[in-house]
Amino acid sequence: MSDHLKYLKSSNPFDIFKSWFDEASKLDKNPRAFTFSTVDENNFPDARTLLLKDFSIEGFTFFTSYLSNKFEQLSTNSLAAMTFYWHEFGVQVRIRGNVSKVDEEISKNYFKSRAKESQVASLISRQSEEIESREKLEQLFHESLKKYEKEDVPYPSFWGGLNLEPHEFTFFIYGDHRLNDRFHFIKEKGEWTCKRLQP
Ligand SMILES: Cc1cc2nc3c(=O)[nH]c(=O)nc-3n(C[C@H](O)[C@H](O)[C@H](O)COP(=O)(O)O)c2cc1C
Repeated sequence: MSDHLKYLKSSNPFDIFKSWFDEASKLDKNPRAFTFSTVDENNFPDARTLLLKDFSIEGFTFFTSYLSNKFEQLSTNSLAAMTFYWHEFGVQVRIRGNVSKVDEEISKNYFKSRAKESQVASLISRQSEEIESREKLEQLFHESLKKYEKEDVPYPSFWGGLNLEPHEFTFFIYGDHRLNDRFHFIKEKGEWTCKRLQP
């Protein structure tokens, strides 16, 4: 039996994700990085790397700007996909689901817990908008850092968490001779069912 399969004994995909994430965290440098895929209003797919903050049976949470392209795309189509590739552990996890904003209190608390520099970087950012130069970005950053040197950085209401509530998980394991393995979980009538798919 492949080492990975022992983690697949559970019939709950969240438990499997947790055990794989824990293993990947021991081996991979950046296990929280994932590809986040959305579609725009013309059904044109878009994808970018983000960092996972938390996960539980409620879903997978990450933080971003509500001014960004991804947020605009989610406003017209809240269905999205996350893809984790843990190279050293030799697996891929694909998750599809519906995305919604997390409670503002959660975003505020997380914002407060971050380093002042990161808070300022979020405050001055108009993510996905054009900026005339790198110098301009650095100028805005340093001005704001100075302004809030001795006081709290105000929470920018355009920055916060998003939560993807999964509807589907696909666990993929690299095998010898490209004889890979793949398990697909789907939630139907509130229950998770699992099928082994050709990889
Ligand atoms: C390793 C890595 C981690 C990133 N993490 C985040 C993140 O957690 N949140 C975020 O908004 N952007 C993050 N980014 C930047 C995004 O990839 C992207 O440039 C940004 O979110 C704007 O995307 P959009 O214009 O499609 O909305 C990260 C980029 C890299 C390379």
